[in-house]
Amino acid sequence: MRVCVVGTGYVGLTTGVSLAFLGHQVTCVDLDQEKVDMLRGGRCPIYEPGMEELLAEAAPNLTFTTSYAEGIPGADVVFVAVQTPSAPDGSPDLRYLRSAAESVAQNLDHNFTVVVNKSTVPIGSGNWVDAILRDSFAGRADRPEKCEFSVASNPEFLREGNAIHDTLFPDRIVIGSDNPRALEVLNHLYRPLINQTFTPPSFSPRPDDTTAVPLVSTDLASAELIKYAANAFLALKISYVNEIGQLAGKVGADITEVARGIGLDQRIGSRFLEPGVGWGGSCFGKDTKALIATASEYKYDMPIVQAARDVNQRQREIAVERLQSELRILKGRKIGLLGVAFKPNTDDLRDSPALDIAGLLIARGARVKLHDPIAGDRFRREYPDMAPHLSDTLDGVFDDCDAIVLVTKWAQYLELDWSKFVGLMRTPIVLDGRNVLDGERMTRLGFKYLSMAG
Ligand code: UGA
Repeated sequence: MRVCVVGTGYVGLTTGVSLAFLGHQVTCVDLDQEKVDMLRGGRCPIYEPGMEELLAEAAPNLTFTTSYAEGIPGADVVFVAVQTPSAPDGSPDLRYLRSAAESVAQNLDHNFTVVVNKSTVPIGSGNWVDAILRDSFAGRADRPEKCEFSVASNPEFLREGNAIHDTLFPDRIVIGSDNPRALEVLNHLYRPLINQTFTPPSFSPRPDDTTAVPLVSTDLASAELIKYAANAFLALKISYVNEIGQLAGKVGADITEVARGIGLDQRIGSRFLEPGVGWGGSCFGKDTKALIATASEYKYDMPIVQAARDVNQRQREIAVERLQSELRILKGRKIGLLGVAFKPNTDDLRDSPALDIAGLLIARGARVKLHDPIAGDRFRREYPDMAPHLSDTLDGVFDDCDAIVLVTKWAQYLELDWSKFVGLMRTPIVLDGRNVLDGERMTRLGFKYLSMAG
């Protein structure tokens, strides 16, 4: 099938490259010439393991362009995957989506095109995009006679850092439209994924237990709500384990044991029960906020989702409190933060716990040094004012340091020879912000080990 993807961020790029890998003819449109040039040269503008390899394998079926006129005409499916940043009131800013929809409508010419909202958009946006497409299309002097289109929603469930695996071997595929013909087209598009008939790339083998992928084919509003409800639930699960973790610390229970003990109940499940400084990234914060904003339009409160957000913020504060109660005075202390990316295997800094914790520490007069194995360059570009706080070496962080906080679960930190660094510190305190270090071993090495749970 012929596919056009508008926007080459995480979601758009992964969608485009994966569909091309599966054998569809894909054109990716992005207005950013620099990005398009990079992609044409086989280089990936984002840090995502395996993406450049998949790009190379899918190259014969892939075109990158800045021109809608090259991508939209003749496409059976157009994915719109542009950014939807949060506006100050928490609702997503849909400016880019509007202008992308208008440009799509100006170039449609096929007898039936499905326009898919791939960006996470508020419930009801499908209808809104449909109205924009129709208005913009009706305003065209050159509009072709035999041209029909329909809007569908096809939410994305990939995790950054695992984007290719999550796209090729998803737990489910959700498609939503009020037009049965659009659902049929998408069903056809995703057949190779649903039936798992493709040969996986060597770097992302098919998990042993993969069978046919369930397809949820539903109406537009339900598909849109599924995305928000799934992300809010995952966010809630993490906040829940963090809330229990604090109580565990108070009553003398071990949160690792508690999480294992409850997670083995298959109704609960063990994933997303890792306690720590809380969630970050571009999705959970934005989506929980947007869900609450949508509900408030209907004069409806969502206290559970709000609580997940509050608990998450509190975890950042608890990290700083733990340091303060140990060091007594934070003013003038040097605190090292290991990890700036919001999670391992990405250089994404959006809503990163490290940035929140650094901000809280600086506000209390501490001197902060940050380190990240991958996200350093991006940090310098996106936070030039904070750049002096970054250290390229671990020695620069540990040297004369009063406390270290492990913020991001990078493998490099887990495998670190911590014994080499203990002597560099002024006071060898380590706060395990991800609950992943062996506390007894750290104590044997001479560290004062602090857990988030207290
Ligand atoms: C999340 C969802 O997991 C995806 O399914 C969804 O498609 C995506 O949002 C999206 O809406 O685009 P992502 O933000 O890439 O994916 O990252 P996650 O792996 O979900 O991690 C989010 C945050 O939660 C990270 O800061 C991570 O460190 C934290 N986390 C995760 C925990 O603190 N504990 C856990 O047990 C799991």
